[in-house]
Amino acid sequence: MVGIIDSGMGGLTTLSALCKAKVDHAYCYYADTRHAPYGNLPAHAIIEAAQEAAESLVARGADRIVLACNTATIAAKEHLAAALAVPIYGVTPALYDAQRSGGKTLLIATAYTAAHYKSDALLDVVALPRLAQLIDAHYPHLAPIEDYCRRALPAGPYDNLVIGCTHYLLVRSLLAALTQATRTFDANEALAASLSKAPAGRGISVDILASGKVDCERYLRVLRELLA
Ligand code: DGL
Repeated sequence: MVGIIDSGMGGLTTLSALCKAKVDHAYCYYADTRHAPYGNLPAHAIIEAAQEAAESLVARGADRIVLACNTATIAAKEHLAAALAVPIYGVTPALYDAQRSGGKTLLIATAYTAAHYKSDALLDVVALPRLAQLIDAHYPHLAPIEDYCRRALPAGPYDNLVIGCTHYLLVRSLLAALTQATRTFDANEALAASLSKAPAGRGISVDILASGKVDCERYLRVLRELLA
C-alpha cells in the first residue's frame, strides 16, 4: 500500500497521477489538515508534522510513502528517509524541465518552497502564501481563488509556468491564463513514472485519513474528477 501525505487536498493531484500510472492498487491518503498550511510553517514544524503522518501510514501498512507536497519534500524528505524503514518519495518544482524548454520562467510556490529558489534574469520566483488555504476552503468554487491570484500573480507573459505546489495544480488553467504562460510544468507524472509497479490487485482502493477536519466525500469527488 502506498501512503500519501499532503496538508490538504493538493496531493490528490499526485494520487491521481499514481493511480493513472497503476503504481499500486491500494492507497491511503493522509490530509494533515491540523497542520495546514505547511508552507507558512518553519522547517522543524513541517518535519514533525510529516513524520507523525508518515508513522501513522506505516502503522496502517504503507510500504512506501509519497510526500505529495513540494513543501514537505524540501523540508522533510531526507529526515524521513533516515528515520523510517520504508522508501520515501516526493515532488519538487520541475524547474529543470521548464528551463530546458527555454524562455522566461515563473515559479509559483508556498512561502517555504519559494524561499529555496532565487529569481534571476530568466526566472521569477513568486510565493503565494494564501493560495493553498483558499483552494482547501473553496475549490471547485473559483471566485475567491481567482480574486487572490489576480492580485498576487505577475501578469506575464511567460514561456514557462512551474507549478511548485500540488494544491495549485487543481487550478492549473486559471493560473496559466492569468500569467499568460505558454507551457506549465509539475512533477507528478515524473514521480509516478519513477515508482516501481506493485503486483496488480483487484481494482483500486483509496482510503482517506485526516489529522483534523476533512470532508472525505469532497476529496473523493475531486479525485474522481481528476481521474475522469
Ligand atoms: N501542497 C503543498 C505543496 O505542494 C503545500 C500546501 C501548504 O502550504 O500546506 O507545497
